[in-house]
Amino acid sequence: MKTTSKPDLSQSVVLVTGALTGIGRATAIAFAQEGANVVVSGRRDAEGQALAAELRELGVTAEYINADVRKEADVQNLVEQTVAKFGRLDVAVNNAGTEGQPGPVVEQTPETYEAIFQTNVLGVLLSLKHELKVMVAQGHGSIINVSSVLGRQGAAGASVYTASKHAVEGLSRSAALEVASAGVRVNVIAPGPIETGMLNRFVGHNEEYKSGLLSAVPAKRAGSPEEVAQAIVFLGTSKSLFLTGESIAVDGGMLA
Ligand SMILES: NC(=O)c1ccc[n+]([C@@H]2O[C@H](COP(=O)([O-])OP(=O)(O)OC[C@H]3O[C@@H](n4cnc5c(N)ncnc54)[C@H](OP(=O)(O)O)[C@@H]3O)[C@@H](O)[C@H]2O)c1
Repeated sequence: MKTTSKPDLSQSVVLVTGALTGIGRATAIAFAQEGANVVVSGRRDAEGQALAAELRELGVTAEYINADVRKEADVQNLVEQTVAKFGRLDVAVNNAGTEGQPGPVVEQTPETYEAIFQTNVLGVLLSLKHELKVMVAQGHGSIINVSSVLGRQGAAGASVYTASKHAVEGLSRSAALEVASAGVRVNVIAPGPIETGMLNRFVGHNEEYKSGLLSAVPAKRAGSPEEVAQAIVFLGTSKSLFLTGESIAVDGGMLA
């Protein structure tokens, strides 16, 4: 029987994109707390080096590699450098994302579309492409793509972001079907509103608007990045070996 990840995370090799803030940062820390070696990537070198140093304080090996997920050469280099350093890639978390410019459909332009789709869709596609090449060859691996509840429902005023996250769901399911027999898993985590910089930018730093948005969450609050990170970690472990092609909402009941 093929195994799809190592029996536990100790000494596993985990890659996180968009790792310097919010959900990505919490995910990198959560994996390191489980003993995994972590490669964090992002676009700001000082913050990236500081995060890698913070992770090493937890007793694991950690590296920062600069990568803008819109650029194939960056993504290819990120995966190649990870494998060169650690010899394999067990778990990849494709988390980098942007909310772009929220606003009604009639105000959208090719530029606002491209600004969101280049990162949220092309970035995930390129990440999948290079991570899967390694994982299929090694015969195991778990990929977690970070989508959104807006990948599974509509949202007035956030059409392009919503469309991009629907695309992440479709890419993930299709990739999961392509690689399941090779022992590689691809799943999605779909967060509801999570207390990060993105949520606060999304509501225009307007506390009243934010409270209204959160009152529609059955749990009556935003989630924390750490709560999302724990669900991502679960998908990286051997506790979820038969789980692939799935989208798990971490949303305080929004999609219930
Ligand atoms: N917060 C929420 O309510 C929520 C809900 C559902 C889904 N999500 C999803 O969760 C993921 C993480 O978001 P977050 O809430 O943690 O917000 P965040 O703190 O803004 O994190 C997004 C991260 O992605 C990075 N990034 C953006 N474009 C990139 C690119 N082209 N290449 C590499 N890195 C890039 C950002 O780096 P820079 O600082 O360099 O831009 C940032 O570190 C995103 O995919 C988002 O869509 C968030």
